[in-house]
Amino acid sequence: MFIIIKLQIFQLIRVKLMIPETDFSIRYFIGGYDNNITYLITCNILKTQVIVDAAIDIGMLLPFIDSEPSAILITHTHTDHISFIDEYIEKFPSLTIIGHSDSANLFKRKNFKYINHKHIIKIGQLLFTAIHTPGHYYDSICYLLKPVIFTGDTIFVGRTGRVKSRSSSINELYNSVYHKILTLPDNIRIYPGHDYGKKLTIQIKENKKISPLLRAKDLNDFISIMKEYEMNR
Ligand SMILES: [Fe+2]
Repeated sequence: MFIIIKLQIFQLIRVKLMIPETDFSIRYFIGGYDNNITYLITCNILKTQVIVDAAIDIGMLLPFIDSEPSAILITHTHTDHISFIDEYIEKFPSLTIIGHSDSANLFKRKNFKYINHKHIIKIGQLLFTAIHTPGHYYDSICYLLKPVIFTGDTIFVGRTGRVKSRSSSINELYNSVYHKILTLPDNIRIYPGHDYGKKLTIQIKENKKISPLLRAKDLNDFISIMKEYEMNR
């Protein structure tokens, strides 16, 4: 059960209905194509469950799934993040797939719900804000579930995503990272789409400290830091 509403409307509804802050737990599963991570979020009040990305064999998640998860949030449609989507749907036929509107044609299914920037997704008591972050890929979405954010391949522990795809854009990545993610409160904790760093998750404040890619002075500086990063990989 979920609804998607725009931010302004959400603010009103939240005040009116006095929706309480909820608490939740996050399990992570590492594997897939390249240390990909699938997350399973469980609301500790209503026990609603939500999955982020279909990057891992469903069998790994099953021992931790109580009934049928409500939805799967897609961070972007690079193959490694959706490679097990058919298995997930086969196991849970009413699972709702949620992703950016530009990817609707990839999910020609009745149960695909598309979202855009700043849409709020309410699943039980879990309230996600969609932040469209093109750059690494055109349909990248970060899902903010305060105090955490699921960043897909937009930001990892220690660096940003890369811009090697046909639909990548370093200008857009700079804009997404610097104007949409790094402007969030410093204590927001990043849960990335791959386990590439020295640890699994990191707060924005600490990530800025350890990553030159997150301390660029401007777009040109970001481009030159990225060039250096790519040369030294
Ligand atoms: Fe990707």
